[in-house]
Amino acid sequence: MAVTIRRLRLSDYAAMIALFDVCDLQPRVRGRDSRPNIAKQLRSHRTVYLGAFDGARLVGTVLGTHDTRKGWINRLAVLPEYRHRGLAVKLVRACERALRKEGLQIMAALVEADNVASQSLFRKLGYETTDILYYRRKVREAV
Ligand SMILES: CC(C)(COP(=O)(O)OP(=O)(O)OC[C@H]1O[C@@H](n2cnc3c(N)ncnc32)[C@H](O)[C@@H]1OP(=O)(O)O)[C@@H](O)C(=O)NCCC(=O)NCCS
Repeated sequence: MAVTIRRLRLSDYAAMIALFDVCDLQPRVRGRDSRPNIAKQLRSHRTVYLGAFDGARLVGTVLGTHDTRKGWINRLAVLPEYRHRGLAVKLVRACERALRKEGLQIMAALVEADNVASQSLFRKLGYETTDILYYRRKVREAV
């Protein structure tokens, strides 16, 4: 399998949303995952949005962001038929490298409590869990 990793482009938008759907990541297409919002995010210097491609087919994603203090690993996803081949590891490491070039020294990820695969993956990659509770307030539900 010759999968290559490159920066995502706006032309990858439809494939990216389809991949989020298949991977049960519930894309917020009327919120932060809308096409205009993704276009804006792609133009930002604070994003490292990467895709793994088998030929022209998008088979994995990671959306790295940073707030100048921490780098965040978001929307890590690999198509079911491409799992268990180390692709997620490659995507996270590529994202971390790009974020480190921007000066980030802490990488973080939010993982749902029942997502065993993702928890195991981040542990393997050297991430530690904390007792911090995640609080958030949405301006509107779809965001
Ligand atoms: C989580 C996910 C991205 C892993 O992708 P992947 O390419 O299969 O992962 P890798 O092959 O790089 O696996 C690396 C490690 O992750 C862990 N892991 C991956 N899948 C696992 C599973 N189903 N159960 C337990 N551990 C798992 C293992 O520690 C694995 O190491 P190993 O191969 O030595 O056992 C993929 O299952 C996925 O897309 N899930 C749905 C979306 C999702 O939950 N994303 C995370 C949001 S925080």
